[in-house]
Amino acid sequence: MASLTMRDVRKSFGRVDIIKGVDMDIADGEFVVFVGPSGCGKSTLLRMVAGLEEITSGEILIDDVVCNDIAPKDRGIAMVFQSYALYPHKSVYANMAFALEIAGFSKAEIAEKVAKAAKILHIEHLLDRKPGQLSGGQRQRVAIGRAIVREPKIFLFDEPLSNLDAALRVSTRAEIAKLHEDLGSTMIYVTHDQVEAMTLADKIVVLEAGNVRQVGAPLELYHRPQNLFVAGFIGSPKMNFLKVKASAVDAEGITVTGDGVPTLKVAVNSTGAVVGEELTLGIRPEHIKLGTDGGLPVTVTFVERLGHQTIVQAHRGDDETPLLAVLDGDVPVKAGEQRQFLFSGDDCHLFNTDGNAYARGFVPE
Ligand SMILES: Nc1ncnc2c1ncn2[C@@H]1O[C@H](COP(=O)(O)OP(=O)(O)O)[C@@H](O)[C@H]1O
Ligand SMILES: [Mg+2]
Repeated sequence: MASLTMRDVRKSFGRVDIIKGVDMDIADGEFVVFVGPSGCGKSTLLRMVAGLEEITSGEILIDDVVCNDIAPKDRGIAMVFQSYALYPHKSVYANMAFALEIAGFSKAEIAEKVAKAAKILHIEHLLDRKPGQLSGGQRQRVAIGRAIVREPKIFLFDEPLSNLDAALRVSTRAEIAKLHEDLGSTMIYVTHDQVEAMTLADKIVVLEAGNVRQVGAPLELYHRPQNLFVAGFIGSPKMNFLKVKASAVDAEGITVTGDGVPTLKVAVNSTGAVVGEELTLGIRPEHIKLGTDGGLPVTVTFVERLGHQTIVQAHRGDDETPLLAVLDGDVPVKAGEQRQFLFSGDDCHLFNTDGNAYARGFVPE
């Protein structure tokens, strides 16, 4: 069990700055997910925690001890990779036992630890097999088992589910959540998939190009994104953005109007806002309904029927950026129709020209 702290952690490869000053506190037993697009520096940050990558500047502390110069094997950390990284010629048992042998545990202790991990992961019947005789999901379990036997203070996962098919990703995701519940260990999990982040995390750290854009609980990021990047990244399908102008500002919020956008009042902390200011209005697809009056006029361009819901893509005039609405499965709508998107100011988000959000008022917990 352990806490982790990062203080102004930076990493450059040659002259290129990859991690640009990350501060963070992870409490003992927390499940933290680093999420961000491919190339934003998630693996680099995780590898620095593991000690596999040197830190250019800053400090990483485990249980309040600076570990910049502590060797990876002495940090009490175990890492699970996307590629599994199993020894192909060793049996499952030997793969799981290997680190324990190196650490000098007795044969009996090793047998006990491997048996215990195998039971947790339901792979007792696979211990004699070689990795080549396993499915992808089973291999990933062995890789996780290899981490469990070491009883690390912190588990690190680097996109562990990315090589699995969709159904297996969902079931293995649930198993990792269960594992966290059972072990109570601190876990840091890296993924580019915001659904994985939302479902697994106590706390999500959203990264963009080596910077932390927001840290918060999953629903906090969904209801109160602090900037355009987080607003667009968290939520699927992604939030719609519309250019608007502030037509009135008072203590209860900002009233906006825009090209075709009906006048709406958005309940936000309006400190700093001025009438005439250009803003970006954000509205999530699931908060839009179809109507014929009083909404935003659009032309429906594409209708995707998923059974339980229908995703409608539409365009305003000749604006190339599509707008999306998620509607009921049986909603009557066809491509080519002129419709209106209806939405309430209560569901909207507002961002200034720097992309920073005006803090929203009441949001459901
Ligand atoms: N050893 C390295 N040398 C040079 N550049 C690297 C090295 N490792 C990673 N990078 C670069 O750092 C950036 C972040 O990489 P990475 O941490 O792997 O991103 P992510 O895991 O978020 O996809 C990328 O632009 C990548 O090309
Ligand atoms: Mg990566």
